[in-house]
Amino acid sequence: MKERLQKILAQAGAGSRRTAEIYISEGRVTIDGQVVTDMGVKVDPALHDICLNGRSIRSSEEKIHILLHKPVGYVTTLSDPQGRPIVTSLLTGISQRVFPVGRLDLDTSGALLLTNDGDLAQRILHPSFEITKTYVARVAGRPAAADINRLAAGIDLEGRRTSPAQLQVLRQTPRYAEVQIIIHEGRKRQVRKMFAAIGHKVLELKRIAYGNLKLGSLPAGKFRLLGEKDIEKIFAGR
Ligand code: URA
Repeated sequence: MKERLQKILAQAGAGSRRTAEIYISEGRVTIDGQVVTDMGVKVDPALHDICLNGRSIRSSEEKIHILLHKPVGYVTTLSDPQGRPIVTSLLTGISQRVFPVGRLDLDTSGALLLTNDGDLAQRILHPSFEITKTYVARVAGRPAAADINRLAAGIDLEGRRTSPAQLQVLRQTPRYAEVQIIIHEGRKRQVRKMFAAIGHKVLELKRIAYGNLKLGSLPAGKFRLLGEKDIEKIFAGR
């Protein structure tokens, strides 16, 4: 059956459809040996040989979903020019070409989904699905209740208002506070910037859930394979 090229690439684990479009525009995709840069092309992968970066894709590859407890110090890109450790190096025994769904900063730990299913990644990342992400931030000092309420209501961040968030102070000591924050946006370094905006530096940041899918007691550096029920939990509770 004929499908749009970017959809086939995404289903084969090349990334989201948007990422696939970038690969196409960069001339990294061939059909039967011919470079294709036209986004409108429809092709039947059963009849034609589609290659990304010179490697044939197999759109029928089994879909695999992984929950990794990303340790601090690992990058969520698939390669790093600076030679820092990459998260996929932790996936021992996984032969499929999976990619992270969204990103976590080098200095953030916690739940990171990886999959070879571009459509699923697209649904999790697309703002219209409003998938919540839960973080626990250890912040310097003790944020005032009024400031916590400001973050919850939404603040101006780089010229754009953040969506309403849910915040709960879990613990306070004289030097720091631990705050749980639930957001559904995925702006770069968003949690750190939100706390910086109320004058509290984030000392440690951990993502503990996507939707209702919780990291639980999975140790740092370890992963587990996800089943259908786990995937449903990501979309539950919206
Ligand atoms: N917000 C941040 O500031 N950093 C992350 O890694 C994730 C969310």
